[in-house]
Amino acid sequence: MSEPASPPTHAIVRLASVDSTQRVAFELAEQGAADGTVVVADTQTAGRGRRGRVWHDAPGDSLLVSIVVRPRLDVSDLPKLSIAAAVSVAEALAAATGLDVRLKWPNDVLVHRRKLAGILLESRILVEPIVVVGIGINLRQRAFPAALVGAATSVDLEGGRAIGREELLEVVLEAFDRWRRRLEGEGFAALRARWLALADTIGRTVTVGEHEGLAIDLAEDGALVLRRADGVQRVLAGEVTASRPG
Ligand code: BTN
Repeated sequence: MSEPASPPTHAIVRLASVDSTQRVAFELAEQGAADGTVVVADTQTAGRGRRGRVWHDAPGDSLLVSIVVRPRLDVSDLPKLSIAAAVSVAEALAAATGLDVRLKWPNDVLVHRRKLAGILLESRILVEPIVVVGIGINLRQRAFPAALVGAATSVDLEGGRAIGREELLEVVLEAFDRWRRRLEGEGFAALRARWLALADTIGRTVTVGEHEGLAIDLAEDGALVLRRADGVQRVLAGEVTASRPG
């Protein structure tokens, strides 16, 4: 934890088509790009999702953004930046579209239990750690590839207020700067409380890898806390693959 820094200004690199904004953001960071540098694209040909998956988009339908972060955090706290990003995207989307946006542990952004936005946090240690926070938000899609039907949604499909990509980018960056500053300056408590208030996962019986239990809390280190018949289990990483009312 350290003193709050002044908010980063955002140099924004806008691209029509790119393999992945994550790749470009790391390349720029390695060349010395400033904290807060942003890469946005209209479409990606090899968008990266969590756990090695592909992130699908159709040109112009999504907000696709990567933010270079030169963090003022201990390395062990870097994953909390993905919680900061998830809360920021949820708040920005709720304010801009009026939708009832919820969070699935650790950082999926849902409406009616369907995924509206995803967050990918990648880090590299160069001379100092560099984090790139990738955010993909589905705005105008009216249909998804077969594998995503029932699992993915968009602002348009949910009947949210239409918002332009530039306008939404501004709101997302403003929220992320604010939560990031709080995390770096004050620690995790306020962010954790806000995540819990937005969580869809808490109070549901969930499966994460080989673990199953009632999700009861987000721990101080970002772990999901499960209550099971044989005690309490902390799950540090993974994906909720099934969930039902607790
Ligand atoms: C997830 O799997 O939920 C995370 C998806 C993250 C997608 C975004 S789109 C902008 C940035 N560039 C990428 O290649 N991935 C992230």
